[in-house]
Amino acid sequence: MKAEPPNEPLLILGIDTSCDDTGVGVVALQPGGQVEVRANRIWSQTVHAAYGGVMPELASREHVERIDAVMQDALEEAGIGVADLGAVAATSGPGLVGALLVGLMYGKGLAQGLGIPFYAAHHLEGHIFAAAGEAELQPPYLALVVSGGHTHLFDVVREGEYRLIGATRDDAAGEAFDKIARLSGLGYPGGPAIAEAARRGNPKGVTFKEPMTGQSGYDFSFSGLKTAALLAHRAGAGGEDLAASFQAVAVKHLLKVTLRAAHDLGRRTVVVSGGVAANQALREAFGASGLRAVFPGKGLNTDNGAMIALAGAAAIRAGREPGGLADGATAYAPLANV
Ligand code: KG4
Ligand code: ZN
Repeated sequence: MKAEPPNEPLLILGIDTSCDDTGVGVVALQPGGQVEVRANRIWSQTVHAAYGGVMPELASREHVERIDAVMQDALEEAGIGVADLGAVAATSGPGLVGALLVGLMYGKGLAQGLGIPFYAAHHLEGHIFAAAGEAELQPPYLALVVSGGHTHLFDVVREGEYRLIGATRDDAAGEAFDKIARLSGLGYPGGPAIAEAARRGNPKGVTFKEPMTGQSGYDFSFSGLKTAALLAHRAGAGGEDLAASFQAVAVKHLLKVTLRAAHDLGRRTVVVSGGVAANQALREAFGASGLRAVFPGKGLNTDNGAMIALAGAAAIRAGREPGGLADGATAYAPLANV
């Protein structure tokens, strides 16, 4: 059963349980194709703090315990009942398989029970479409997904066609923020902690060598910065200067590679999304770069359910067949398809 482009607003429920956030959102797809976020509720799991990383089995259990309540909150925020929904989308990958299964099965069951179409969504496509409520996105454009697990640069050639043109060769950008915050005692999650400390630090206080300046491609690297930060910390560099200097070089690296790709491929627009896209210094640098930089709205940068509903809306708008009732959860699922 396919969800037709609607004559009246179609309400789509989106679910993401790919990692340690239980996210449920509601998006309205208007007859003209515009999208609007009506609700976005997230339960961020704290049980992992004691372990210094996400414990997959604990994440799955916590999703099972929370998902009903998070969905009720989302419906309440949107001011609707479950019978008002016209379609359901849930992340099928990539992510932790046990965690993914919770949201995926919940979404499938809900859609089956209500007799409405179900769409299995790709987590990274969700991150990209998180920006769809902010501006008209007409391919071709570049999409930079910078999160705790990904630093991927895509050329979105046509609607639904993704060419991976660059990626990190080692650590993800967010991972570097998290690890450097940890080693300098700034706390967790590292991104916001570094951003906060950086306000009081000197961005020239610690010298970092910009990564991969010699390449002609579009890859990224963050592990050298992590090692340099560790050495600077051991040599007595203050946390605030370290934060400000690392943030400055990380933003410069992300922007320079993206600008080169935009120049070479003749792209004018770049969507910057994922947790690290919440970073204010990064937003300002991309905003002043001459590219048309589009960012997700508040609460849509880090993992959430609304972005999955937005990916579902894009699939419906593009006339894609619903699918996924037979799809399983996949830990490894590359988005690149051209
Ligand atoms: O997209 P996300 O919620 O999860 C993944 O799919 O990985 O991204 C989380 C990452 C974390 O590494 C976190 O430190 C980073 O995004 N992050 C930030 C900021 N807010 C979150 N990094 C830099 N600046 C921020 N303001
Ligand atoms: Zn993510």
